[in-house]
Amino acid sequence: MFGALLNYSQKNQTITLQYEKQNVQLQVLTDKIVNVFVPLTSTVHRSKAVEGDKELPTSFSLSKEADHLVLSTESLICKIYDDFKIDFYSKYGNEETLLCADYRGQRIPRFELQESFIEFIKQEGHNLDTAGNQNYPVQCVKKLDKGDCIYGLGDKTGVLNKRYYEYENWNSDIPDPHEDSFKSLYKSVPFFITLKEKGVYGIFYDNTFKSYFNFGKENDNYYSFGSDDGNLDYYFICGENMPEIVSGYTYLTGRMPMPQKWTLGYHQSRWGYDSEETFRSLAAKFQECRIPCDALHFDIDYMSHYKVFTWDTERFSDPHKLISDLKEQGIKAVTIIDPGVKVEKDYYMYEEGVENDYFAKSPDGSIYVNAVWPGDAVYPDFGNPDVRKWWGEHLNFYTDLGVSGIWNDMNEPASFNGPLPDDIIFTDEDKASTHAEIHNVYGHNMAKATYEGWKNLTGKRPFVITRACYSGSQKYTTVWTGDNQSLWTHLRMAITQQCNLGLSGIPFMGTDIGGFGADTTPELMARWVEVGCFSPLFRNHCAKGSMNQEPWLFGEEVLDIYRKYVELRYSLLPYFYDLCRESEQTGMPIIRPLVLHYENDENVRNLNDEFLVGEHLLVAPVVEQGVRKRMVYLPEGVWYDYTSHTKYQGNQFYIIDAPLDVCPIFVKAGTILPKAPAQMYVGEIENPELILEVYPGAGSYTHYNDNGEDFAYRDGAYNEYLFKTDGNRHLEITKVHEGYRDYPDIVINYV
Ligand code: GLC
Repeated sequence: MFGALLNYSQKNQTITLQYEKQNVQLQVLTDKIVNVFVPLTSTVHRSKAVEGDKELPTSFSLSKEADHLVLSTESLICKIYDDFKIDFYSKYGNEETLLCADYRGQRIPRFELQESFIEFIKQEGHNLDTAGNQNYPVQCVKKLDKGDCIYGLGDKTGVLNKRYYEYENWNSDIPDPHEDSFKSLYKSVPFFITLKEKGVYGIFYDNTFKSYFNFGKENDNYYSFGSDDGNLDYYFICGENMPEIVSGYTYLTGRMPMPQKWTLGYHQSRWGYDSEETFRSLAAKFQECRIPCDALHFDIDYMSHYKVFTWDTERFSDPHKLISDLKEQGIKAVTIIDPGVKVEKDYYMYEEGVENDYFAKSPDGSIYVNAVWPGDAVYPDFGNPDVRKWWGEHLNFYTDLGVSGIWNDMNEPASFNGPLPDDIIFTDEDKASTHAEIHNVYGHNMAKATYEGWKNLTGKRPFVITRACYSGSQKYTTVWTGDNQSLWTHLRMAITQQCNLGLSGIPFMGTDIGGFGADTTPELMARWVEVGCFSPLFRNHCAKGSMNQEPWLFGEEVLDIYRKYVELRYSLLPYFYDLCRESEQTGMPIIRPLVLHYENDENVRNLNDEFLVGEHLLVAPVVEQGVRKRMVYLPEGVWYDYTSHTKYQGNQFYIIDAPLDVCPIFVKAGTILPKAPAQMYVGEIENPELILEVYPGAGSYTHYNDNGEDFAYRDGAYNEYLFKTDGNRHLEITKVHEGYRDYPDIVINYV
């Protein structure tokens, strides 16, 4: 396609390759990351995910061999051939290992379907998947080896390992029950990790147009990624192990900043909480049932006629008072804001947007109108920095009322009158763009507007939740997995979705606990909270029209179980907070598939129903109806049951008892687990003591603490402690950094 390599030149860390038919650029960003850039539609990168210059001074060599060019850094070798075939090798252990080769053979789809047959079976409503022959204008095909596993790609449904499956990136609001076979969902995160028998690498394919990933469904010998438009612009990331790949990817696309502490508490939500009385009685009920709660969410019902930046004062006579009364009880208000602005004369957000030219337009220059909850609605053009500023400034409507966080929804963007045409005009920072290019980053830009506006207004760490996003959104927002249903299959899916989101650089996520659509059962509710209490975003939410899902509605037994797991979460808050700190520094997720830390263990490469919380806790929840025992795999090392402290040798399978009130949790030997005393909300005790649960075995642990609210920690206002245990009931505490108040006490409990 590209022809022979005619020439090449080097300028600093960028190498331009001149092929017969196309110029290509390779940029060495670090010794482990190389960018491959084929400028098909523009000569510059227009990344929404990578902000700022990521090139670090890196020494590398370039040499010409008989039929190829060799680019070599300390960790990586790229061999570049005619027709722009490029192979990547790693240099770990001084041994050259081929990690990723461009596929040279002919593409041969595993099966091909005759058009006539497709038409024939359509009669009964079957839509056949015609895998293969994917001739997208932008594409790249790479070799697959036996045993390769593929992870990442954001919130995609289905199993953990994406090999043999095919996906699309086109942010989609799909209200139907999410199926394993869905190709796309709300988010586009074009990053995946290929784990090989020997070695591992990541590819971040930075293209916002509708994109396609075929991970060996078309043919076992290769995989492909491509798009309808844009450049072939991808980053090859190598590292010694999976954590290094995640770290490399988040080095490029950014890491989650520290959240406020309260955001890690319990959140209660429902579409349909539609009056002041409802919120007051919810707060009272949480107190009465002694279930800790930090936030109540206000869904679209708080608005007047679903107009964003308004409040229905008939049903909420004094939102300011309501919100401050709730806050007195430790409960923060989080309000939803959708992007669709109602078309209505004299409605200020609409009028201001029209006046300033802030809404997306049709090619004929008129404002583009579709419909969302408020009926006819227009779409703020968040790719325009002025629009982001305008939107962000208006958030004072919420901060003035005392609202503590913003939940951005419907920002795929959703549209009730058919999809937005590809040629709707949006802005991409300083130039006009189209819906085709902007669609997948619409949610990202909205979250960015919200984050920046909130930060300017409050000086606090903004709490933003979004449904749609793109790579890099973790810098601005947390996410949830959208409209799941009260189905056992969706509880199972919560694990793989969250594990892959975490591997995709997005650590702060959650699923609607209990399920959004359909009706939950007492048993499902109990099992869901046992999983959900480990989600960074710990929120019970459900749909209007479905059965209410507050914890006290399922009988005493479930209420007790619910309380037990919410209390467990509150006791683990210092651990969760440490994991946030780790995430900010290294990009590591909070919820992790076992394969992240035990990549050489065959038993965990396809393990869909266990997960790690950080490196120290292993959770093996029950996600099947009626099950009261389950098989648990423990990887290498020694593990302790969290409750009974029974000791288990790793590298083995066990049958573990799991009655309804038990979620099997294991702690790795040598763990020093930081815990907090019981509280009804974060901050109920002003300066709680720290409790350290020290498990047998030698180990060390770094613990972090700050005021949990603002950015003072970035100027050093934090404490960092190093704890070390030799395994003989002895603990050494060293303060590594001092910039914040001390704990009144550190209680040490040896297991
Ligand atoms: C969407 C959201 C859901 C919300 C509803 C009403 O379906 O995904 O969480 O409750 O809209 O705002």
